Amino acid sequence: MTTVSTVTQPTVLIIDDEPGPRDALKVILRPFFTIRSAENAKSALDVLNNEPIDLITLDQRLPDRQGLDLLTDIKHDHPDVEVVIVTGYGSLRSAMEGIRQGAAGYLLKPFNVTELITLTQQTMDKKRRLDFLRRQLRSSPEIWELSELSSQVWDSIKSEYCSLPQSAGPNAVFQEEELSLIPLLSDILEATDRHLLNHSSRVSFYATLMAARLNLTLNEQKFLAMGAFLHDIGKTSLPAYRFSEDQIQPSGEPIVCKEHCERGARLASTMGLPKDVQDIITYHHERWDGYGYPSTLSGTDIPILARIVGIAQAFDHLTADAPGRTCISAEAALQRISLSSGSHFDPQLLDVFLEVAKQSIASLPTMAASPAA
Ligand SMILES: [Fe+2]
Repeated sequence: MTTVSTVTQPTVLIIDDEPGPRDALKVILRPFFTIRSAENAKSALDVLNNEPIDLITLDQRLPDRQGLDLLTDIKHDHPDVEVVIVTGYGSLRSAMEGIRQGAAGYLLKPFNVTELITLTQQTMDKKRRLDFLRRQLRSSPEIWELSELSSQVWDSIKSEYCSLPQSAGPNAVFQEEELSLIPLLSDILEATDRHLLNHSSRVSFYATLMAARLNLTLNEQKFLAMGAFLHDIGKTSLPAYRFSEDQIQPSGEPIVCKEHCERGARLASTMGLPKDVQDIITYHHERWDGYGYPSTLSGTDIPILARIVGIAQAFDHLTADAPGRTCISAEAALQRISLSSGSHFDPQLLDVFLEVAKQSIASLPTMAASPAA
């Protein structure tokens, strides 16, 4: 008889106050997971604070709290734990809200058993990839150097990462050799902070919107989409980085460790990404008036793609919705960044951005919420 070792099984915490669905979940998931359960938010938090949990199935209505409320606390205090929402009161709206707050997926009661098993397995596959990257990022500071050693370490990270189960399909924007790196780089952003990944996706979306008005070549558009997506990849080198704790200047520029530009560019170089992509990462904090960093370039000495990303990231930092962070409306953000025309930002490019943004202002944040990269 085949036995399944419980030592290596991940642990799932089932949070549900109704015995029927709770027992059904236990029966379905027991072959794959070590099971813990809780009937309310308080006992769920007790379990989470006392033992390692990999995955949670979370009922949306609990006797002592709303499930989405509890989800916010779980993702704040235990960001490495994945959550699947299981609900009998579902709607597209609450599903989107749960996913926005960091849930990995959403299932309606009465649930389909195959769907439930598939979703929990896919979520665990993703968690294994993110956990692997978190361990590597924390334990290998040498990967941020530009050296023979860092290339070797990245090669071994890439090959081990590729041997882990993958889920997302490739995106058609990129060429073959760069394409294979996108899931890895996207997971590195998410392993650091899910909000950093969302920011990166939105900035790529805003930059791509501008590209359509600028007669860029197809290659430039491709480099822009990728460079915008990776512009802050160097922040993944900062220990304990949190997107919500980035201080934002009135212009929309974040005040962070300035080294993130060069660290990110070194990583892009080690990965063999195109020079234009490296330049976006290096120069996206340069200012039109020459007071930016890291090279105090000014005017058209700053590569145009980096100038575009500088505007897109400033707009997103002002409008980004993240826990503990105050954002302003898209209209107010456009007004705010227009005050920095000619100082922070290239006036002509800013005019293009203002024009493009105003045309779809009502739906802009929602449109950008779908990952562009
Ligand atoms: Fe940045």
